[in-house]
Amino acid sequence: MPGTELYGAEERKEINDVLETGIFFRYNHDAQRHNIWKAKDFEQEVKNITGAKYAHAVSNGSAAIMAALAAAGIGTGDEVIVPPFTYIASVEAVLLLGGLPIFAEIDETLCLSADGIRKALTPKTKAICLVHMCGGMADMDGIMALVKEKNLILVEDAGQAFAASYKGIYTGLFGKAGAYSFDFFKIATAGEGGIFVTNDEHTYKMADSFCDHGHDHVGSNRGMENHPVIGFNFRISELHAAIGVAQTRKVPFIKEKNNYNKSYLQSKLSKVNGISFAKVCDPNGDSATFLNLLLPDTETAKRTVDEMNKAGIGGFNYWFTNMYHFINQWEHIKDLKTTSKLPIELLGAPQDYNQLHLPKTQEVMGRLISFGVRCTWTEAQMDTLAAGIASCAEKALTVIA
Ligand SMILES: Cc1ncc(COP(=O)(O)O)c(C=O)c1O
Repeated sequence: MPGTELYGAEERKEINDVLETGIFFRYNHDAQRHNIWKAKDFEQEVKNITGAKYAHAVSNGSAAIMAALAAAGIGTGDEVIVPPFTYIASVEAVLLLGGLPIFAEIDETLCLSADGIRKALTPKTKAICLVHMCGGMADMDGIMALVKEKNLILVEDAGQAFAASYKGIYTGLFGKAGAYSFDFFKIATAGEGGIFVTNDEHTYKMADSFCDHGHDHVGSNRGMENHPVIGFNFRISELHAAIGVAQTRKVPFIKEKNNYNKSYLQSKLSKVNGISFAKVCDPNGDSATFLNLLLPDTETAKRTVDEMNKAGIGGFNYWFTNMYHFINQWEHIKDLKTTSKLPIELLGAPQDYNQLHLPKTQEVMGRLISFGVRCTWTEAQMDTLAAGIASCAEKALTVIA
């Protein structure tokens, strides 16, 4: 959790600015706020890092991905390709907007692959909700070629990949719109927060209105603003935005430390025969929030996890069985358990979610063990961790040798 590792005086100063004015609302109240606009500052900090033309701060990353899909025009009956390894928000957002998720294969990038997407396409596929997992990025050359070839709408959930880039372009900015999360577990946190980004003015205006009951935010009389579209309340508060400002300013430092620490661990662990790493398509753009180990097969990975639990090694996720980021744990999605009827229940799901055939995804996820990289680790701590992981993996690997 690098962002929270560095919580300190800078965050308190930004929060205090808001406490002094008492204006917690991001809009209006111009006279009382003494030029304190934290949501706008947060958006500017994100634009400074990513180069996005437009950024809009919202209440959380789930709202940001929903806004990105909505602003890109995804709605009832639209088929959207989604990954089976993601935080569930990406799938929920498609469903709640009335869309029809189609699950496609991921690969060793831990993201949807161009090949997986191509195989899942149907004549009705309208969009891809691409999720950049574990701090890295998808293999964008192949995916962008396919997006152009098939004239698809690309929306990026970069909830876990703020500040990651591929060949100089930041995640979230390849397609129509993108989303970042600034929840408590991310490279930078706002406590709760999210940012929507796009380079397209119309898409930005749609998201800006969608996230605030349709307000167009023109003029200074909120009660009499126009409402070009129906929206909802996904606003961020000034207090949360204030934390986001201070944290986002720390991201270049965190990213550098993360990369150093990840490389340090990788160089030690690459000496263990049998340990390899998830593919990072552009090592220069890695936000390095996760160290992703790949064991030779699922059984060895499970034994490694058991050995690490016995040895008291923590700080890792075995998504395959232990986390709700993976489709194997999504009974509510497979059985479409809903509080009230969604469009998918009337229109019919485009796949039988209980009978999905995703062998590549099952293979990669079975082998994957992810450690959260900490930017405050010392080399001594990393030496101990690497030695512990190596010893557990070697024990697990010996059984099959
Ligand atoms: C890939 C991805 N998308 C979306 C989200 C949702 O973000 P939030 O928790 O801010 O709603 C997360 C959060 O973990 C995520 O990892």
